[in-house]
Formats: sequence, structure tokens, C-alpha cells
Amino acid sequence: MTTQNESPVYPPSAETIAHAHVNAAEYDQMYTASLADPDAFWGAQGKRVDWIKPFTQVKDVNFNLGEVSINWYADGTLNVSANCIDRHLATRGDQTAIIFEADNPDEPARNITYNELHSSVCKMANVLASMGVAKGDRVIIYMPMIPEAAYAMLACARIGAIHSIVFAGFSPDALAARVNGCGAKVVITADHAPRGGRKTPLKSNADAALLHCKEDVKCLVVKHTGGQTTWIDGRDYDYNALAAEASATCVPAEMNAEDPLFILYTSGSTGQPKGVVHTTGGYLVYAAMTHEITFDYHDGDIFWCTADVGWVTGHSYIVYGPLANGATTLMFEGVPTYPDASRFWQVCEKHKVNQFYTAPTALRALMGQGNEWVEKCDLSSLRILGTVGEPINPEAWNWYNDVIGQGRCPIVDTWWQTETGGHLMTPLPGAHAMKPGSAMKPFFGIQPVVLDPTSGVEINGNDVDGVLCIKDSWPGQMRTIWGDHERFQKTYFSDYKGYYFTGDGCKRDGDGDYWITGRVDDVINVSGHRMGTAEVESALVAHVAVAEAAVVGYPHPIKGQGIYCYVTLMNDAEPSDALLKELRTWVRTEIGPIASPDVIQWAPGLPKTRSGKIMRRILRKIAENDFGSLGDISTLADPSVVDDLIANRTGK
Ligand code: WTA
Repeated sequence: MTTQNESPVYPPSAETIAHAHVNAAEYDQMYTASLADPDAFWGAQGKRVDWIKPFTQVKDVNFNLGEVSINWYADGTLNVSANCIDRHLATRGDQTAIIFEADNPDEPARNITYNELHSSVCKMANVLASMGVAKGDRVIIYMPMIPEAAYAMLACARIGAIHSIVFAGFSPDALAARVNGCGAKVVITADHAPRGGRKTPLKSNADAALLHCKEDVKCLVVKHTGGQTTWIDGRDYDYNALAAEASATCVPAEMNAEDPLFILYTSGSTGQPKGVVHTTGGYLVYAAMTHEITFDYHDGDIFWCTADVGWVTGHSYIVYGPLANGATTLMFEGVPTYPDASRFWQVCEKHKVNQFYTAPTALRALMGQGNEWVEKCDLSSLRILGTVGEPINPEAWNWYNDVIGQGRCPIVDTWWQTETGGHLMTPLPGAHAMKPGSAMKPFFGIQPVVLDPTSGVEINGNDVDGVLCIKDSWPGQMRTIWGDHERFQKTYFSDYKGYYFTGDGCKRDGDGDYWITGRVDDVINVSGHRMGTAEVESALVAHVAVAEAAVVGYPHPIKGQGIYCYVTLMNDAEPSDALLKELRTWVRTEIGPIASPDVIQWAPGLPKTRSGKIMRRILRKIAENDFGSLGDISTLADPSVVDDLIANRTGK
């Protein structure tokens, strides 16, 4: 059994411990209490948010297959936008809520106060209401990383509409699938999304998507760059003009704790992306609590999460968590390497960022550019560093620690998922030592268990590995898949009965600390973006020249994992460089640039069992150039395809 016991250990400094909300003894005491009496623990934590009607029940959860139901604070009522804005106005109306740093470094930053946020959100809420959006309606947000994206989220929350953000890197087809999937009434978009000096034509993407949607879907357009767009009167609404006329007050809707707050589509191992549903009360409590404790956030801190609001990280740690805590949150429109590789660090210096939260893929890309880009910036304001999205390799961790944190900033390696709403495992700055690459300890109320993948039996003790499940619920847990509670139960509760199955593998080392070893299903993590190999396969087979496709991940030095596609062509199609290029473009059009294949290999045949199941294990090994350990191939219907694949791979 491999263990990580030889890993270096970095205990928290005395200064970090003194500053932190939670020290080691407090963690132990609170963690024990959170498991011993969840109702008492989460009942007290529920007071972090303001309730219109206070809850009297806390936890009401059933993980049994066929009966899965998850409820927290179920009889309480509240409004998320009032919690993120209104309740701060008396004490911090003039404090900056959002710092906006544009893609173009020459554009002055914008500081939006809580008062300004209030009036902008109310205006957008009134505009949406005037377009016919009411409580329970769905609204798609397809936006650049600009303050209006946050206004849109909070405006939906204010009137009780359910938002679903589609990352701006998704194609019109992917956008249309999500509009139709949740039956959205309105798509909020902008003319263009500037990123890294280039512009994505969001409005024309939305136009293309809406051709495949019901005719009554409306489009609200933020004029951000002022670039030209086509306009369909009656369908398209001009946000800037309407907001100028709209009232700057809007009474927040009284929502039940279990009313949906948002849907976020994410990839799974099979089929189309699923709409993960998060609700109002528990999600907000959990986002606020993890934001405060994991990042050791204190009043007055400047918090920067570099994610996009199109992903769950942006939901919980750019918008909802920080704003619920009355923080100053930074929104960055650009990319780490534009105009040059010092951009992140210049932004940290310029805005005196205290907590910085990013993905390993960005760190690896920047690390490769050399330290001079960092050294010219003053990073003395940084206090806590965070990472999320994929396992972080020790080289990237060490660089983050030594060069960015200068050895004085704890690194919180936060493991969580779209489904979990907030962090489930992470070292806490003042409570835990850090080990490079380890998510270390469970957050309060979280009971991780390591199961034997075949028997499903819990493996106790240390120095063990298996699949990672969670034994009981927490308030930030997803409640269902939009419109498909059956699929929800089947995906997360059927393989290992009575547990929430994460889809990740995990080790518990000799000290009892947790290490995420990556997905055990057919989900891959490309530049921190989660992708289902099945989605890329179905995009490929939709092309006329393609008979069959199998897609696997392979280790990629910057992206973490790259997308490796094996393609079997139709009899009448000839492999060529032109076709290769065409297939790449095809996938980008079907899904979006984030799904661009890194490698396409022509495969005259795919390794299949006699029952027709593709043996992905073999394809993964070939993609990794690891031909020595293909395992038993005698069960294949035609073992000779493996030799062909290896010959094609090596060009021999
Ligand atoms: C992976 C992102 C290792 C994991 C918040 C998980 C991680 C998937 C970490 C969820 C981490 C996330 N260490 N792996 N710190 N954080 N992952 O839904 O495989 O986009 O299941 O949520 O990312 O990706 P998602």
C-alpha cells in the first residue's frame, strides 16, 4: 500500500494560529460536536444568516435509495439577496462589495459599494420582473466576468427566480441544451466577453442558441463593450436602457429554505450534463461558513477567487459566500497571462489582496514562465492561499508556497464539488498542518468514508485507499437533479447504499489525513474544468465521418488532464490532417472551446469485450504511453486491435 507518510509536513505558524477563527483544539471540539448533535450544531450555524421566519427544524435527511430526500431548515424563510446585500447596508453601505478588474489593465478598476450593489440588483430585479419573470421561473445567465453577472444572480435570488449560469466558453449548442433543459424564460447575456485581449461574441452565440429554443424565450442584453450585435425587436431587451428607467428598490421575495436558488449543469460519467440543484437556506449557511473559516476571512479583508461565475467555485466563493459575510470580493474579467504572466500578481499588489484562491492549472502555467514575473510585484498583503478543482502536484504546491506565499501563507487545498455547494475537506489555516497535495481534514459535519470499490464495505483505520463516500448530509449538499430525482438517486446513492458517492478515489494516510486520487468514473478534469468523456464522444459521433469514438483523459503537464480521442471512421471516410482539424473544430462547436481534443488518434478498431463494452482501462494506458501494464487483454473480442492501437500511437 502506498502511503504519503514521507510527505513533508508544514504546521501552522504561531501567527497564523493566533489570527485564525479556529485552532486545533477548537476544531476537534467543534468537529466532534458537529457529528454528535447535527441539529444543535447546524441550528447554531443557521443563525449566520437572517431569516424572515426563523426555522424550528434543522436536519431532515434520508439517504436510502428510493427515498432519498434532503432538507435543511425546512420551515424557515429568507431571501438570499437580502442576506448578501440589505443586511449590510446599515453598517457597511459605503464599503466596497465588489472590486471589478477588467481584462484590459489600462481600464480603471471599479469599486462597487454595498449601497450601489443594492440599487443595481434592485434595478435588474425590476427589469426581470417587467419581462415577466416570477418566483420559480428559470433564468439562464451567459455572461462575461463582469459585475452585471453578479447583479443578475442576486436579482434572480431577489425575486425568487432560479438562475442557471452557463460558462461563457460553452458553444451555442451547449447553451441551447441548457435553456431547453431547465425551461428558461429569459437568457441574460452581454454583447461581447473580452478575455485575454480577444472577444467572444456572446450575443451572437445566444442568437444562434435561441434558434433552437422556444420562440417565447427572451434575451436581456448588457451592453458591455458596445460592440455591434444583431437585434430582434420584441425578443431582445436592452438592459442598460431598461435599468436606467427602473426603480432602485425591490422588495425581496420571501423564499422557503428549500426553494431552489440555482441550477448548475455539470458533467457526469454518462449522458448529458445534469442540472445540479441547490436550495436557499442550507446552501447560503454553508457557503458563508466555509468562506469565513477555510479562508480565515476577517472584516476588511480583500478576497479574490479567480474562478469564473460559470462554475460552482464562482457561485460560492465570488458571490454568495463572500457577500453573505459582508466581504469585499474581487471579480477579474481576464486571464492570468494577459497582457503578461505577471497579471495575477499585479492585481494582488494593486488591490492589496489578502486571500487568493485559484486552480492548480493556472499555477502550473505561471510557474513555467519563471519567477521574474512574480518577483517584481509586492505580494506582502497575501495571507492565505487556496487551491481547488484538481489534485495539486507537489512542484506546483511548493512554488505556490515558496514563491507566491513566500513561506508565510497557509495553503488551503480545498476538495469539493459542484454537488457539495462548498468545501468538504481542506486544512484549516490555524488548526491543521499542511502536506503538499493533501486535502487533509473534513470540514465540520462531514464524515468521509473510504470504501472498498467492489464490496462497498467501509475500510477502517489508516494507510488505506478506496472510493470516497460521505456518510451523512450537510446543509450545502445538492438536493436533486433538475427534473430527474431518479437520476439523482441513481448517480449518487445507488452504487454504495446509504452513502453519498463522490466519484473520487481517495487515500487516508498513516496520520489519518485525506488525499484525493482523482475520479474513479469517466469524468476528467481538464484545466480544472470538469468534463464527461461521454459528452465528447457523443459530439464526435455526431460527425458524418465518425463511426465510433472513445475518449479518455491522459496526464498533461499544464492542464492536469488532456482530452485523448480514439476515432473510428466510417468506411467511406479517409483519415487526413484536414479531417483531424475538422473534428477538432466540430467538438468546439458542439460543446465549446474547453472541450477541444488535445489528441485524436485514428483507431481502425476499439478494444471491446465480447459483450461490446469498450475497455477504457486499456485506452488510458495507451494514451499514457504505458504499454507494459495493459493487464489482461484475453477477454477482448479481438485482442489484435490493441497492437494496431499501439502501432498507431508510436507510429511504428
Ligand atoms: C476534483 C469544483 C483534488 C475532484 C469545486 C472533484 C479536486 C471534482 C479538488 C469536482 C482538490 C476538486 N483536490 N481534486 N482540492 N477539488 N477536485 O464539480 O475530482 O467542477 O470530484 O467542482 O474536481 O469538480 P467540480
